Amino acid sequence: MNNAQTTRPKITVVGSANVDLTFRTPRLPVPGETFAGHSLHQGMGGKGANQAVVAARLGADVSFVARVGNDGFATQAIDAYKNDGINTKFIRHSKDQPTGTAAILVDDEAENCIIVVAGANAELCADDVRSAKTAIEAADVVICQLETPVEAAIEAFKIARAANVLTMLTPAPAKLVTDELLALSDACVPNKTEIAAITGKAVETEADCVLAAQTLMQRGVRQVALTMGGEGVLTLDHSGMSRIPATQVKAVDTTGAGDAFTGALAVSLAEGLPLSDAASRAAIVAAISVTRIGTQTSFPSLDEVNGWNQPEETK
Ligand code: RIB
Repeated sequence: MNNAQTTRPKITVVGSANVDLTFRTPRLPVPGETFAGHSLHQGMGGKGANQAVVAARLGADVSFVARVGNDGFATQAIDAYKNDGINTKFIRHSKDQPTGTAAILVDDEAENCIIVVAGANAELCADDVRSAKTAIEAADVVICQLETPVEAAIEAFKIARAANVLTMLTPAPAKLVTDELLALSDACVPNKTEIAAITGKAVETEADCVLAAQTLMQRGVRQVALTMGGEGVLTLDHSGMSRIPATQVKAVDTTGAGDAFTGALAVSLAEGLPLSDAASRAAIVAAISVTRIGTQTSFPSLDEVNGWNQPEETK
């Protein structure tokens, strides 16, 4: 995230691509209820694509490995990625499955509910990943999530490890993570729900967070950045633990904030920042994103991040 830097950080993202349909609504519905919403916004989403887009907007040279359908949404998505300067040549088209879609409800308190129909994302396979071997080996950081089959993530991380490339896992959506995948993850960026799913223990208090992060280290992870929403971020690596307070902003839509954080963290780590400094920068990127509606539509540019000052009313 450094304007003066001559070599751009290289990030390869292996993961999901969705079209997001965001419904703004006064409140979230209860079963069987029908009522009027405020507005509908269509944009590009998917955890993998979101991370790729934020990294590209922050100046990284990004390759995206994904699966989309053979439909209009696929064309719109690929055009949008190209517009952000992302290398799309490793995106394959599935024959029978549509491009992934997400229905997102966001209420006046910025709470959300998301339903994802995976479609073509479910067909991302180890062979797709092998076709992008050169982009993985040339990267500074390879990022995977859990919205596409785990086989794809394992293959990507094996190729990356063999080439000494830093591997970063966002274990989202929350689910059990195998020892094999965790041991292949140099960095792990969970939220509280996700780290609880991995460790099998409730994570509520600060002490729970510390213990859960230490558990990930014992299972082979070298850098943990635990995002805790309004409570900030906890980082843990060989140099110790840091607490980064939450950046205070008025949130209107928190969808994709975790992806904004991860993409930005990868860029800063690729630039050589220590984990806690990288997480502080990434927290600003995530904070800017929650002040706007949508996922990729809410991600800032590098200039915007560098010029960002905390709004007076939130100080
Ligand atoms: O993390 C936010 C993302 O989750 C949305 O963009 C949606 O597509 C789902 O994948």
